[in-house]
Amino acid sequence: MTKKKELIENIKVTDIAYKGHAVARHPKDGREIHILGAVPGDLLDIEIYKRVKDIYYADVLEVKAPSKCRTEPKEGEVYMSTSPWQIFDFDCENKFKKDFVKKFFREHADIEIDSEIFFPEGFDIYGYRNKIEYGFWKDKETGKYSFSFFRRGSSRGKIPVTESALNHPKINEIGKRFLDKINEKNIEFGVLKYLILRYSYFTDSVVAELIIQKDDFDALQISKEEFEAMLDDTLQGIVLSYSPENTPGARVEKVYFSLGNTDLKDKIAGNIFKYRYDHFFQVYVPLFDFVFDDMSRALFALQKARGKSWDILLDAFAGVGVFGIALREFATQIRAIEISPETYKYAKENAKAAGIDNYEFIETNTDRALDYFAGADLLVLDPPRAGVPKDTIKTILEEKPETIVYLSCNPKTQAMDYNWLKNDYEIVFSKGYNLFPRTPHIEHLMVLNKK
Ligand SMILES: C[S@@+](CC[C@H](N)C(=O)[O-])C[C@H]1O[C@@H](n2cnc3c(N)ncnc32)[C@H](O)[C@@H]1O
Repeated sequence: MTKKKELIENIKVTDIAYKGHAVARHPKDGREIHILGAVPGDLLDIEIYKRVKDIYYADVLEVKAPSKCRTEPKEGEVYMSTSPWQIFDFDCENKFKKDFVKKFFREHADIEIDSEIFFPEGFDIYGYRNKIEYGFWKDKETGKYSFSFFRRGSSRGKIPVTESALNHPKINEIGKRFLDKINEKNIEFGVLKYLILRYSYFTDSVVAELIIQKDDFDALQISKEEFEAMLDDTLQGIVLSYSPENTPGARVEKVYFSLGNTDLKDKIAGNIFKYRYDHFFQVYVPLFDFVFDDMSRALFALQKARGKSWDILLDAFAGVGVFGIALREFATQIRAIEISPETYKYAKENAKAAGIDNYEFIETNTDRALDYFAGADLLVLDPPRAGVPKDTIKTILEEKPETIVYLSCNPKTQAMDYNWLKNDYEIVFSKGYNLFPRTPHIEHLMVLNKK
């Protein structure tokens, strides 16, 4: 027996949840109702389709009176799958992000913080993403392939797309080139797993990794020579690899071949950074100079006050070495820690290209490199969304570096981490950056100095 869905008329949307849903309160029990396709301030008719623990989830049936923060989505119907925040006016988006940062620091660190959310004039709020990972969709009637995105809301499954408005246009161009090639053939469904496309702002070109999930290159029906013929100034490199069907995500077991140039290059703070197609790199690269300028200004002021530069800069979660290298003038010696395989080769090359000879890089988990923290007086933290691992926090509290630059793509975990540090460190600078427009993601910088 199917359960009857509950209909609620004329409900006011009052809030927004961190993962991007708008929030209303159930008129009877006061529980939160999370609604995609809604904006705080909307008056709606909705239909509740499920309840998970204490939260209801609902679809919008009708917008009775739109919020002042509502705007037309760029991508019509698919926007809910590509980026549901397309219906938020951009000023409102920035205000919601500012409120999130405030709320997280109040709830998780018990402090009041009022960081602005910065987005520079003249920069595009679409067409900026330098990486996309697509799954595949095969139309049952036409047999043609598209990319697939997850449906959101009550209707499950996936939907076909050929591009995303958030992607850099060159990524969309190369995505279509791959679909055309794939659709020339009659490839059985289940052979293709992912297409990952990465764009370099510096060279204005794309590297593609096509991952198949059947260890049978012939099932692809596209020869190495055909892939080679796809390369040009815009598509600089192709990697063809295998990841078993049951392995979650894009974890690769074997690389069949690489064609062209599969290393990317990007420029931050006047330095060129080389990285491999599967290494981490910042997303909206041209905005990073603004983040770096703020870091530098804050450090410069501290350096002036202490009358000298720092001895050892430790760049934890270093990727291919971006912050340690870009901030090299503030310390006599640079150390870096990063877990991702073969980043050391790239970081060392990047450091050499920047003229640094006192550069040490260890490729491991920060929790296993605790000795590396000893003596470091300037610590840069740029952890993944989960925040800084607990043992690493413990070591920081033991070693107490004088200054910490903490950049985070998740201010919620950053606030939790700061809660451990707050007795020993004061915030000398904080600012948010909207590096991921049209999505709920926020980048937040804090510069901390020992009390
Ligand atoms: C947000 S990225 C920052 C990378 C770099 N700072 C940059 O700007 O390019 C976080 C990095 O931390 C690495 N990472 C994640 N957990 C780690 C750990 N426990 N120890 C060391 N590195 C880690 C990831 O591989 C990723 O490269």
